[in-house]
Amino acid sequence: MLKKIALIGGGNIGGVLVHEIFQRKLARTVALVDVKGPDVAKGKCLDIAEATPIINSDVLFEAGKDYDVIKDADMVINTAGVPRTVRPDGTFPSREELLAVNLQITDKVAGAIKQFCPDAIVISIANPLDAIVYRLYQKLNPPKHKLMGMAGALDSARYRYFVANAAGVSVDNVEAMVLGGHGDDMVPIRSCCRIAGMPVEKFVDDKTLSAIEARTRKAGGEIVGLIGVSAFWSPAIAAIEMAEAIIYDKKKIIPSCVLLEGEYGVKGLFVGVPVVLGKHGIEKIIEMELTEAEKAAFAKSIEAVKKTTDEVIATK
Ligand code: APR
Repeated sequence: MLKKIALIGGGNIGGVLVHEIFQRKLARTVALVDVKGPDVAKGKCLDIAEATPIINSDVLFEAGKDYDVIKDADMVINTAGVPRTVRPDGTFPSREELLAVNLQITDKVAGAIKQFCPDAIVISIANPLDAIVYRLYQKLNPPKHKLMGMAGALDSARYRYFVANAAGVSVDNVEAMVLGGHGDDMVPIRSCCRIAGMPVEKFVDDKTLSAIEARTRKAGGEIVGLIGVSAFWSPAIAAIEMAEAIIYDKKKIIPSCVLLEGEYGVKGLFVGVPVVLGKHGIEKIIEMELTEAEKAAFAKSIEAVKKTTDEVIATK
């Protein structure tokens, strides 16, 4: 159990995060800050706290519209930002199209972290994921093991779910990873997809796997199209997987968006790769063997990350 976890942004994802932290007793105190009035942060926390006698959870909360509630947090999970929303004509923006507005929000978030909990481990979820994490890095300049983005945990869970359904086996049996940027060019790594330790191709044919991989790349959009806004339950649970790996010092390998300094031939970008998560945050970056086709797909995804990151760099 941590002393304090701070959540910045108390919308759809933030709300599920608060609930899960209360339910799983991950911290003595959960802090929630949201600018939305009259006081959404306080209201959401109070609503959940009032159920704590029933769920036997002795978690405390501090919440409000002012950033000082995050003071001295050991961990920050950032969801402050605009999600994707369906337009009246049924279309919706790409994650990258959220950049301009979410950069402005991120600058405020970074200022708050710097002022109130500069030593916290930060997990960021706001989109466009890789670019927003890069902005936090620019503004916070933290030790590299303390800043990461949540994307691979979610994208891999989606891949695993689709594979399990196609194979007709339990999701527990499916191991899979999705790497690269958190955009439509993300890279499901078929060569490391296993079902109960056996290659996935033993259970699912090539054509079906290709369709699953295409669906995985667009799985976020599929949810936006169905419910009208970005997914929120699965992203929150995926971030909790990362938080628990750190809080319980699990040394769990989870694909996460981290700063690469030469690994995978990439320098100075935040990209999704497998890492060991433990009490120090990112404890190791794992360099895995990719097939030629996966290398090419990874390079394409890096191009997309670089393009958005360059926009961040150009925005003062
Ligand atoms: N400080 C704190 N909170 C803020 C700020 C800010 N400067 N600006 C906006 N917020 C809050 C909003 O008031 C809102 O309640 O962030 C919250 C975001 O919640 P939602 O709009 O429900 O969005 P959500 O689905 O939670 O997604 C958040 O994560 O997955 C990404 O694309 C998604 O960028 C989006 C982010």
